[in-house]
Amino acid sequence: MNITVVGTGYVGLVTGACFSDWGHNVLCVDNDPRKIEMLKKLQMPIYEDGLEDVVSRNVSEGRLHFTESIKEGTEFAEVIFIAVGTPPGYRGAANLSYVEQVGRQVAENMDGYRLLVEKSTVPVNTGEQLKRTVSKYLRSDIPFDVASNPEFLKEGTALEDANQPDRIVVGVDSERAGKLLRDIYEPVIKKTGCAFLQMNIASAELTKHASNSFLAMKISFINAVSRVCELAGADIQEVARGMGLDARIGPKFLNAGVGYGGSCFPKDVDAFVQIGDHLGYNFELLKEVQRINKTQREHIMQKIQHELWVIQDKTVAVLGLAFKPGTDDVRESPSLYFVPQLMEAGANLRLWDPVAEEKFAELYPDQTYCKTPLETAKGADLLLILTDWPEIRSIDLDELKSAMNCPVVIDGRNIFNPKEIRDKGFTYISVGRA
Ligand code: UGA
Repeated sequence: MNITVVGTGYVGLVTGACFSDWGHNVLCVDNDPRKIEMLKKLQMPIYEDGLEDVVSRNVSEGRLHFTESIKEGTEFAEVIFIAVGTPPGYRGAANLSYVEQVGRQVAENMDGYRLLVEKSTVPVNTGEQLKRTVSKYLRSDIPFDVASNPEFLKEGTALEDANQPDRIVVGVDSERAGKLLRDIYEPVIKKTGCAFLQMNIASAELTKHASNSFLAMKISFINAVSRVCELAGADIQEVARGMGLDARIGPKFLNAGVGYGGSCFPKDVDAFVQIGDHLGYNFELLKEVQRINKTQREHIMQKIQHELWVIQDKTVAVLGLAFKPGTDDVRESPSLYFVPQLMEAGANLRLWDPVAEEKFAELYPDQTYCKTPLETAKGADLLLILTDWPEIRSIDLDELKSAMNCPVVIDGRNIFNPKEIRDKGFTYISVGRA
């Protein structure tokens, strides 16, 4: 099938690359000429493991193309996926101006039936608004459908998630739209046997918000339990293991730490609270999820403050700037909370991240960036771990100790075994482990 994907960010590019890898002909559209130029030269505008190979392969086999022209994109395919940004807007609600703009432009260029599929995370009832927009800007009486097909990809494992989905959710209000989407996903359904859930558009939109908010709630829950563990002399990792083996709870997303970040959870939980408020439901449970996430960072900041007493002129080594391993994304990353706080308090910072350094340095160009975790630790009075990159796990603790001015580690990701690292002579403070 011919498919157009508008937006070449994390969602759009991975989606387009995977569709082409399943045998479809895909045209990716982006109004940022810089991105399209890079992609045509097979340079990735984002870091995602394995993406470059999939893009190169499908471009060279003639199934994947790039353009700046939405007109070309509209003419190319019957099905158009909208995967543009929906950044936080007024009071945390999603800013839908990019989605609206694509709807308008597609309407102005349509010459026959089109199916517009929302792939970006959007508030419930965006499908209705999109329908109204397309009808308004259509020049003649051309038939069209709108559908919702939320993505459940995680940055860092996005290709794996796309090729082995737990489920595919589509929200449609016509048989034709349902059939087109089923045909697109047929290769992966055949290969993996995953469930294909067809529902109405509002239900599909809500499935996405409810899923992300539930996962964020799981993280805030375990972070709240970690606070109790610290007070009660318990170990959060033992508790999480004990809980997670109950099949009704499951072991995933029970890692206590510095709180959730990234471009999805903070924004989507905010947006879901707004949706509730707008529809007349006060989603207090989610407001508490947000509060716990915020206080978790503040609590770790207090631990730093307590260890250093005076932060001014102390050298603090920070390992991990990305919001999680496997990505260069720093949006809503915990590092964006800790680094400015420590700078303001007068610390000398030494920063390390294996892939996110460049993106972080765009925001904080005047900091010291190091090439390895050990180099970062040189002369440090405290080492702060914010992302669980595998490189940190493999540090030689003896070398780390001799590199540091004072062997104090605050581990926001519970990477090390407390007994082992303390036996090496470190002061070791982690999350939820007395
Ligand atoms: C999340 C969802 O997991 C995806 O299903 C969804 O498709 C995506 O948002 C989206 O809406 O686009 P992502 O933001 O890439 O994916 O990252 P996650 O792996 O979910 O991690 C989010 C944050 O939670 C990270 O800061 C991570 O460190 C934190 N986290 C995760 C924890 O603190 N503890 C955990 O146990 C798990």
